[in-house]
Amino acid sequence: MYQHDLHTQINELIKKSKIDFNKDNLFYTRFIANAAAIHSLYMDLYEHHPQRDKMLDELLQTIIISYKKRDTIFKQKDEEKLNKGFWFLSNEITGMSLYVDRFCGNLQNLNDKLDYFKKLGVNLLHLMPLFESPQGESDGGYAVSDFKEIDKRFGKLEDLKALEQKMNNEGMYLMIDIVLNHTSQQHKWAKKAKQGEAKYQDFFYMYADRSIPDAYEQTMPEVFPDGAPGNFTYVEECNKWVMTVFNTYQWDLNYTNPEVFVEMLDNIFFYANLGVDILRIDAPAFIWKQLGTASQNLPKAHSILQLIKQCVNVATPGMALLGEAIVAPHEIMKYFGTGLATAKECDFAYNATQMALQWDMLATGDASIMLASQHEILQKPFGTSWITYTRCHDDIGLGYTDEAIQQAGLNAYEHRRFLKDYYSGNYNGSPAKGALFGVNYKTQDARISGTLASLCGLEKAIEENNNDAIKTSIKKIILMQAHSFFIGGLPMLFYGDEAGYTNDYSYLNDAGKNYDNRWMHRPVIDWEKNKKINIKGTTENEIFTSTQKLISIRKKIAAFGDYKNLIWLSPHNIHVAAFVREFQNQKVFCLFNFSNQAAYLTWYAFKERGIVSLALYDYWSEQEFVIGADHEYLIIEPYGFYVMENRL
Ligand code: GLC
Repeated sequence: MYQHDLHTQINELIKKSKIDFNKDNLFYTRFIANAAAIHSLYMDLYEHHPQRDKMLDELLQTIIISYKKRDTIFKQKDEEKLNKGFWFLSNEITGMSLYVDRFCGNLQNLNDKLDYFKKLGVNLLHLMPLFESPQGESDGGYAVSDFKEIDKRFGKLEDLKALEQKMNNEGMYLMIDIVLNHTSQQHKWAKKAKQGEAKYQDFFYMYADRSIPDAYEQTMPEVFPDGAPGNFTYVEECNKWVMTVFNTYQWDLNYTNPEVFVEMLDNIFFYANLGVDILRIDAPAFIWKQLGTASQNLPKAHSILQLIKQCVNVATPGMALLGEAIVAPHEIMKYFGTGLATAKECDFAYNATQMALQWDMLATGDASIMLASQHEILQKPFGTSWITYTRCHDDIGLGYTDEAIQQAGLNAYEHRRFLKDYYSGNYNGSPAKGALFGVNYKTQDARISGTLASLCGLEKAIEENNNDAIKTSIKKIILMQAHSFFIGGLPMLFYGDEAGYTNDYSYLNDAGKNYDNRWMHRPVIDWEKNKKINIKGTTENEIFTSTQKLISIRKKIAAFGDYKNLIWLSPHNIHVAAFVREFQNQKVFCLFNFSNQAAYLTWYAFKERGIVSLALYDYWSEQEFVIGADHEYLIIEPYGFYVMENRL
């Protein structure tokens, strides 16, 4: 839609910035094409703000300046990615999330670890927050005191740039976080607010007394009810109350102020211009607050994300956005955009629902609740992708719906209680060793901490020196990884899981961490232990080589790209989660037995999905299976799985 004033304003600004309309024609085209959307999203948010026009001008300038600053090499990469189409849907990308300091000390050392990733098959690194964050009140780096200064613990900005360059040369992708919702109370904006500067007090939600905070508390849930109850913190220096949804030292930014938006957009572009391929937007569900609501998942939070997406599409279009919304399934879906904005908000979201459902299946040996949840998960629009995972640095929330549990004939409250007991090791006979996180004694809600290996029983099996239990736990670990690798989306491993790390309890001795048991599953890597990945017969070797094999299978098969190409098989056997991935002429059946008994799956289950060949080739066991008569069965061993291709 042509908008005379807006387009004139953009043209003037571009002229002033001395951008060459011919040389930078693609940028210019993108800008004009997105201008109306940017304008209308901006107005949706800030139409009635007194600084509206001034800040719109600054926003447009921020886009131009950021484009100008972008290295030619990244501009070329942008174009390559745009020409590829949805580059990030590819089956050839596998990620790993890691804390640089806990993995290998600092950014420089990470250069020497690139071969380790290559060996495993990982070509995307999610480096957990690297920017300045006060020791002792850092929330693993999610309390940022300077968005542009690398924390000394990790090195310098130059180190990150050098690493990025090396990764880029080796065909690897980089992902980092923007902590959008809040800053550390040590950030310069917060410090100025504490000193009483009104301009900066308006960067946060600050109140002179408890009346508004109390009104908010009526409807806002608590995120860390045990470690940081409530949503407001008293600030002695200025005698005011500030909103702190997460920890007391994480101050929520006030996005009703357009200046905050423009400042944070500038930070986003700063990261884009470091060569970031995927930007993880931390906690986007929380970025808009409104009295009388839960202040989560509000429509204007989506407007902010869409506005960011439009701006990024203009200046740095090669950077994809991941919205870290760990919310109810039907809410997660909205982060991909809805209505006219479908597939125009976040490119990625975590498939947190499926992740939790995998843990449900592992505990119960039953796929019913998982299947009952699929109608929601399958709504994801084409052109967007899940991040699939079994574990990450955060806790596991059992966030799927009560209805899905009820459909499986169970009582939702009792069932969740069973799972919490099972994984925290309080259920008789459970092999898992985890802990409850975020216990809310008022609602009895809680999430689960623990590493993949410990939750799958490896820690206990090792303690008990029980070889059979060790074997079973390894099978569970690989089953969990396989399911999340093939289900569609970009698999994101969590560091340490590839070598079977069990819980690390050293956090209990650190006053900056001991209030947060998520640290038990954020191990410090011991490279002596990791050497065992090369020694046959060790647990480390078995887990590493199996993970490696899963990644290489995924890389071979285009159907594993996230092309909205997954169909669930009818549950002929409720212990088995089974789906088919289709792409062009390819049909790949993935079947996972979550029970501790052998499962029998009738060949009819395959025929129902239009299989026409006589045999299936299983990439995992490297065997061919002749398809039998309808009444005959494929047998899947306990915690076993197949990745079978239809041989035409
Ligand atoms: C996200 C992070 C989590 C952090 C929170 C607050 O959920 O994943 O680790 O505590 O945001 O920044």
